[in-house]
Amino acid sequence: GRVARLAAPAGLALLAGCAGPQSVFEGAGAEATDVAFLFWVMLVGSIAIWLFVIGLGIYATKTRPRAHSERTGLYLIIWGGGVFPVVVLGGLLIWGLAMMPELRRPANGPTIAVSGERFWWRIAYDVEGEPGAVRSLPDGGIESANELWLPLGRRTEILLGSPDVIHSFWVPAIAGKTDAIPGRVNRLVLEPTREGVYNGVCAEFCGDAHTQMGLRVVVVPQAEYDARVAALARPAAVTDDPGAALFLKNGCGACHTVRGTEADGRVGPDLTHIASRQTIAAGLLPTNVANIARFIHSTDHVKPGVEMPSFGVLPDTEIDAIAQWLGRLE
Ligand code: CUA
Repeated sequence: GRVARLAAPAGLALLAGCAGPQSVFEGAGAEATDVAFLFWVMLVGSIAIWLFVIGLGIYATKTRPRAHSERTGLYLIIWGGGVFPVVVLGGLLIWGLAMMPELRRPANGPTIAVSGERFWWRIAYDVEGEPGAVRSLPDGGIESANELWLPLGRRTEILLGSPDVIHSFWVPAIAGKTDAIPGRVNRLVLEPTREGVYNGVCAEFCGDAHTQMGLRVVVVPQAEYDARVAALARPAAVTDDPGAALFLKNGCGACHTVRGTEADGRVGPDLTHIASRQTIAAGLLPTNVANIARFIHSTDHVKPGVEMPSFGVLPDTEIDAIAQWLGRLE
């Protein structure tokens, strides 16, 4: 509407600084590239219409009344107020709708389940079958969290669900946002066209830590993707370790799974290969032993609103041992 047309030039100035791994203007996916192009055409079109309307307004103030005949006024209303907007807006609408078949081509790559959960992303590779009755997503698959690997140039189907509240999965550089809704499965196809690491976000307010619900998306060639999924399928690299014993003794396994140990909790992120992920706490901090220890010690300080309780009551030596062990789980 009028507000959007007025806001466009200001928005353009603000957006001039938008680049990098979370930018919709540096498309790294088929959908994002099309949508960005659509955006620029719409923007240029709305600026042109805005200039035309403002120009007419200025012209009107400079012209004496009754300078035109009634017939001229009628033509202006019919052509300027009717035919012109119908043709321009109708053309843009048809062109935009014509993009949809291209955006809805079927998947030809792997199927990955992504579950939005307060306040992180459960990711399961190579899922098969229909969604289970209890959880909205299929059971099985190779679990990971907060870091989504995708094969370059393939159309990967993402099954989106949630066990708690509505979240929204958005990787601006690769594809538009899609809601993750409890009790149903939404489907989204991602076709990355450029290798790299991109940022994703939760785009639906879901609670205190909504803004800290990020994810990394890693786009690699198919062979590298296959190797990554095979590596994720293996049990933990180190299971006989003082840190592992303390992890189990302090009950961490009630919420977290580390395959190869007795820890098989399903509440929080799978930690089997936590050290191989770039970030901890859903994109919040780089993965290293110091940050893992800090997160265990002051969880709700590092990530306010997080569901995991802080374990600051544990002796620092125990926290350090657990963090050292987790830091070896590549
Ligand atoms: Cu999840 Cu906002």
